[in-house]
Amino acid sequence: MTYENIIAEIVDGRVGVIRFNRPKALNALSPELMAELGDALVEFDADPNIGCILITGNERAFAAGADIKAMAQASAMDMVATDLISRWETIHSISKPIVAAVSGFCLGGGCELAMSCDIIVASESAQFGQPEINLGIIPGFGGTQRLTHAVGKSAAMEMVLTGRTLSAEEARSYGLVNHVYPVEVYFAEAVKLAAKIAAQAPIAARLAKEAVNKSFEMSLHEGLNYERRLFHMLFASEDQKEGMAAFIEKRKPNWTGK
Ligand code: CAA
Repeated sequence: MTYENIIAEIVDGRVGVIRFNRPKALNALSPELMAELGDALVEFDADPNIGCILITGNERAFAAGADIKAMAQASAMDMVATDLISRWETIHSISKPIVAAVSGFCLGGGCELAMSCDIIVASESAQFGQPEINLGIIPGFGGTQRLTHAVGKSAAMEMVLTGRTLSAEEARSYGLVNHVYPVEVYFAEAVKLAAKIAAQAPIAARLAKEAVNKSFEMSLHEGLNYERRLFHMLFASEDQKEGMAAFIEKRKPNWTGK
């Protein structure tokens, strides 16, 4: 599919890369861009050749948030009627692992989108923040929830109440970001990580993602039971037989995703 606001391509054989492509607007997340992102995510999720998805922007901006110009004049009823944000939810229905490669501004909806990914790789110049308070609003795509889970209440409160941003290193120390690399290599390192995930047994990778995400929604008891069911279910897969046979035969496994 061809897109106008994103670039979608396959790199390293099994990594589906989605790059935001509105550099002049610092990759502000317009309704059109978000619709294209949703389409590309669904397409990669359905493609058996893709094992991991990578979302990125450019060196200056991952994304500077939802497009302010597109909503500045909206009334509350316009926001309810169009419910644009609910269309952003597509990312939460994607079963394959998603890596975010973040450089520069990662603000508002951009930060919320990065936090909706499974792993964040950042460049040293990345800045994470929820500056919506400066616009007279609050985050609308999970910033008050996911950020609080990621960095704790005090840091989240300060960020949401003052618009303070976190440097890449601060974000890493809080556990929001997995790795920080120099700007020149952060994208290549993110691709390397995505390729490593993409080379794993596909069904196990999907169920692993699902189980970890359930830990945010279930009690420990329910989560442990849920994990156990998925663990048992994987013994119905050919990849489980292959993985264990390969270990015993001291060879590399050949995953079929079945
Ligand atoms: N929406 C629309 N356009 C944006 C934008 C956004 N979120 N962020 C930047 N732009 C545009 C600017 O309007 C400007 O366009 P023009 O050249 O046509 O004027 C262009 O991108 C470059 O931006 P600046 O000139 O402002 O660049 P800067 O380097 O001086 O500042 C910045 C960079 C600090 C990121 C600043 O642009 C900024 O504060 N942006 C807004 C950040 C923000 O408030 N994000 C939250 C949005 S609301 C949201 O996301 C809600 C939600 O939870 C879903």
